[in-house]
Amino acid sequence: METVEVKTGAPYRIEIGRGLLDSLGDKVRALTKAKKAMIVTDETVYALYFERAARSLESVGIEVLEFVIPSGETSKSTGNLIKLWETLAENALTRSDVIVALGGGVVGDLAGFAAATYLRGIKYIQVPTTLLAMTDSSVGGKTAVDLKAGKNLAGAFYQPCAVVCDPDTLATLRRETFSDGMAEVIKYAMINNPVIIDKLFLYTESDSALLDEIIALCIEDKRDIVSRDEFDRGERALLNFGHTPAHAIERLSNYTVTHGSAVAVGMMIISRASAKLGLCNADVPETLEKLLDKFSLPKDTEFGAEDMAKAALGDKKRSGDRIDLILSYGVGDARICPTKIDELCEIFRKGTEK
Ligand code: NAD
Ligand code: GLY
Repeated sequence: METVEVKTGAPYRIEIGRGLLDSLGDKVRALTKAKKAMIVTDETVYALYFERAARSLESVGIEVLEFVIPSGETSKSTGNLIKLWETLAENALTRSDVIVALGGGVVGDLAGFAAATYLRGIKYIQVPTTLLAMTDSSVGGKTAVDLKAGKNLAGAFYQPCAVVCDPDTLATLRRETFSDGMAEVIKYAMINNPVIIDKLFLYTESDSALLDEIIALCIEDKRDIVSRDEFDRGERALLNFGHTPAHAIERLSNYTVTHGSAVAVGMMIISRASAKLGLCNADVPETLEKLLDKFSLPKDTEFGAEDMAKAALGDKKRSGDRIDLILSYGVGDARICPTKIDELCEIFRKGTEK
């Protein structure tokens, strides 16, 4: 087992190890005096892992309650947030109880925001079961739901009391969902960690030891960034590489394009545009293309530059007539570039033209 310490205002540990799901109860008992745990999960993960998680919590004397949402991004909604608040209240969870987010990024973001706001904050533990949630969304305390106007527009910074990451759970992922997670892994490689690029090129499906190593490297990268910039006032924005076009694509597709796939296309758009603007060499889009191909991730979108630029106007990274765009200056070298909103369309055009 590997342990990563996150030194945010409220510090916590991330434990990474195969089989850890069965020791969830011990972990919760060590960290809380909880009498009740509300497991928040989605229908797919419920069928696969709820029983094991519940059994482990019950073995240490914790009463287990459940809140199950349909699988998919549209469940990260204000409607489900209100239902979850009401369910927590109906079951009389108190501040000494705990929420367990068992699932991917959708479950983690929704459960985390409910934990941040119910009774003005109760403890929650992240138990990520997708590659994306293990390497990105369960770490760093960004919680949110989507609004009609766009992704993650209502949320809070609220750190979990622990993250329990069991890579054995990845065995049941659909191939496409595993690839979605690889998009965020590639993001770390492209923004500041070329070591991950070498490991990704070496990776084969049967190499679980290398996968565990890659997961830990991403978690350590994210830990370093969020420990220095917990509230997203500076360098944490680097983690949004590719995300401005990605969020626009997700929204334009009515969330039928998954987050990971949208990030893959978004990174491609930004990398091509950065090369055409003369900020980086052609090796950036070329390396990215090879990695996206290796994990069968998309590189192009049906949506035009103008539509994407319009859809990006509601993005959180916007401030007045500027938006913090993350552009590439080399492989493993992304930088925050405040960009005029009316230049966005041209940048997206450069990035969508081959
Ligand atoms: P997801 O939570 O929708 O999970 C993807 C699919 O995998 C779902 O159908 C789910 O039911 C299924 N699944 C989950 N675990 C499984 C398992 N072990 N076996 C089989 N199927 C399983 O999507 P995601 O890709 O995990 O997360 C995307 C979300 O994360 C987006 O909403 C995105 O905005 C958010 N996100 C948040 C942050 C953050 O910092 N908070 C960072 C990145 C992404
Ligand atoms: N995934 C972006 C962040 O955590 O800041």
